[in-house]
Amino acid sequence: MTSSLETVGNGEDVTTQIRDIRAAQPGNLMARYFDEAYYCSLDEAKRERLHKIIRSGIENPDSQMGAYAQNCTDYEDFEPLLEPMIRDYHNISDDRLIAQEHDWATPTSGYNLEGVDARLKDVSMRVRVGRNIGAFPLPGAMTKSSRLEFETLLIEAFSVLMEDPEFGGEYLSLTPGSSCEIDEETYRRRIEAHQMFKDMSGDPYLESGGISSDWPYGRGMYISGSQDFIVWVGEEDHLRVMSMKRGSDLSALFSRLHGGLETLAKLIPDFAHSERYGYLTSCPTNLGSAMRASLHLPLPNLTKEGRDLEHVKETALDLSLAVRGVGGEHSEAGEGGIVDISPRARLGVTEAEIMQCLYEGSVALWSLENAN
Ligand code: ARG
Repeated sequence: MTSSLETVGNGEDVTTQIRDIRAAQPGNLMARYFDEAYYCSLDEAKRERLHKIIRSGIENPDSQMGAYAQNCTDYEDFEPLLEPMIRDYHNISDDRLIAQEHDWATPTSGYNLEGVDARLKDVSMRVRVGRNIGAFPLPGAMTKSSRLEFETLLIEAFSVLMEDPEFGGEYLSLTPGSSCEIDEETYRRRIEAHQMFKDMSGDPYLESGGISSDWPYGRGMYISGSQDFIVWVGEEDHLRVMSMKRGSDLSALFSRLHGGLETLAKLIPDFAHSERYGYLTSCPTNLGSAMRASLHLPLPNLTKEGRDLEHVKETALDLSLAVRGVGGEHSEAGEGGIVDISPRARLGVTEAEIMQCLYEGSVALWSLENAN
């Protein structure tokens, strides 16, 4: 086996490569904060580990973050590089402590968009959290057999969930030969319904991070009978736990996720968590609450019928919201100027605050959309 020093970027010296990336791609946070002196201070074993973490940012110079943790301990072990990247991305200045508190209890009731405008009674709403289990390496470092072992553990937990009338449902596996394996047509339909994740092996960032390796082994999805509680297994994080509904009641969406998450947590080993960084995730962009709450809003005026997202992105920034197209990350607006709105912050904000931001921000955008 060749050492990763050779395999990262054709044997060229890593520090030279990163220097070039820093000059060409100032947005790549890994390259921006990579410090040669720190790198040189590491012993060979730690350098190898670091290479795996930053490989995605080297092989994909246009990365925004440019790193994926391979093990939960990486955040501590490589703090001199990762912490400045995390502070920058999450907008936490050096004079502030990084700390994550959780709050699912502050009432988020009353976040009903239909009460704002009857036209908002049937929007697509989704809230997800990333979770990883400390007892396994993160997805980038898993072997085919640990991916399969992980899926088996989860299938056992889901079988308990399925007995519970509040959940029911089924587990759909992508693992060839699994007793829960689904056919291609079913998989395609689940993707179309935005329930299942896409073939990750086509994502160059995930591939360089080792996250899509062994595709599709150990990958699958649990979905509740009512189709509103979903758990992805083996995507960018061990688990992506989410609630999805069409409607207008963001509070109901949030409590469905919370209830499902609590029930699931009792059936599996502990989630990896740190006081400073909250729930530990593969990608440092997701640390903290690891939560992304979003809804699809038709904003034809603000997006010029979907032709221009730039203006609405700027407006949304003031409301602490990010805007993307409805086809997921890096997509453009859909028909009728439908866009995906979500609070930007993940780290240093509580779950309840994220829901509040989504509700208040979308109400504000809606009133701008409908002004004059
Ligand atoms: N690794 C990519 C980058 O650094 C993705 C970052 C955020 N997206 C994600 N799905 N984690 O730009």
